[in-house]
Amino acid sequence: MAIVRGRSLIATPLSLAITISLLLAVASAAVFFEERFDDGWESRWVKSEWKKDENMAGEWNYTSGKWSGDANDKGIQTSEDYRFYAISAEFPEFSNKDKTLVFQFSVKHEQKLDCGGGYMKLLSGEVDQKKFGGDTPYSVMFGPDICGYTTKKVHAILTYNDKNNLIKKDVPCETDQLSHVYTFILRPDATYSILIDNVEKQTGSLYSDWDLLPPKQIKDPEAKKPEDWDEKEFIADPEDTKPEGYDDIPKEVADPDAKKPEDWDDEEDGEWTAPTIPNPEYKGPWKAKKIKNPNYKGKWKAPLIDNPEFKDDPELYVFPKLKYVGIELWQVKSGTLFDNVLVSDDPEYAKKVAEETWGTQKDAEKAAFDEAEKKREEEESKSEPAVDSDADDGAEDSDVEGEDAEDDSKVDPNEDPAASVDDDVHDEL
Ligand SMILES: *[C@@H]1O[C@H](CO)[C@@H](O)[C@H](O)[C@H]1NC(C)=O
Repeated sequence: MAIVRGRSLIATPLSLAITISLLLAVASAAVFFEERFDDGWESRWVKSEWKKDENMAGEWNYTSGKWSGDANDKGIQTSEDYRFYAISAEFPEFSNKDKTLVFQFSVKHEQKLDCGGGYMKLLSGEVDQKKFGGDTPYSVMFGPDICGYTTKKVHAILTYNDKNNLIKKDVPCETDQLSHVYTFILRPDATYSILIDNVEKQTGSLYSDWDLLPPKQIKDPEAKKPEDWDEKEFIADPEDTKPEGYDDIPKEVADPDAKKPEDWDDEEDGEWTAPTIPNPEYKGPWKAKKIKNPNYKGKWKAPLIDNPEFKDDPELYVFPKLKYVGIELWQVKSGTLFDNVLVSDDPEYAKKVAEETWGTQKDAEKAAFDEAEKKREEEESKSEPAVDSDADDGAEDSDVEGEDAEDDSKVDPNEDPAASVDDDVHDEL
């Protein structure tokens, strides 16, 4: 008993310390920027003048959209087709050095997006927000991008030494007309994660999944294939021997069916010999049968060596002057709605925000969407001539089914097959 008590006495201050440090960790979670687009949002966001003089700047609509889980929860939505959009908000400058960086927002493409971005940017330093546009340098660009059948992906572009670097992994984005939460997490150990609706879709390292730095290792350019390196997979079986008399089989034989012509005159014509024909017994020069080479070493590959060009940067993940969040898009068809923008250092907090917003509204939003779709289909069939209505309904149905199938499988038929291999590998990890 005494021992047990003694133990528990020791354990108490320890668990207390753990509890305190956990509390501290939660308490120290920093929110650098959070925008739910409640009243007053317009004082925090600056609409850019970019493309205005060409009449190509699109208007934002402050709305919850045509369907939503909560009609009072508004966001900002692109409202004009074939337009550029640029808007940004400032927050107190910070560096993510020694911190986890979390960038999250929700996006809904109500318009059945066929070509257009749904991504956001983090910008650094001093930016003239009135002039914010496609050429304004940014630090991070993240979120879904859809164009035609081939581009349906999550962008994760990181700027390093003034160069924009695309992620090398293919991360498919959502393609339906409902809200989804996109989360980018960048950690001080140079690892990252991409989440959609709080589910991790991709994770890895800045070193391997972007070309920010030259590769750590390269093939040794000096290496040569050793002379005795055996690359032959098959060899002649040394055990196999030539059957006796094999070489005595002639290639051609006298035609047994040939007969000496009756009018052949040996004296005049010389001695008669039958013409020759190919010998059916003849099988060509003898070859030993092939067997697997026991000395086969596989295809030779140059060994990897440390790349002399590689210089590690322990601050590879650091953006020292983050200061703005922005949306800068080109949209062929408008209707993309952004909401619940968050820049934080705490993935747990971000997860909670996603659950409280998208998580509590998604079922109601889906129901509202289904309702809106039903109405739309009814309207459409009403406006069709009665004779055609049946056939048209059928077409609508199959269209909707096609969409569902796509969403369920989460596979883009145009995707590079290598990308799904990557996904498989990722799932196993
Ligand atoms: C804004 O969105 C609402 C809801 O979808 C819509 O009824 C309204 O027409 C939109 N306004 C503009 C200017 O696009």
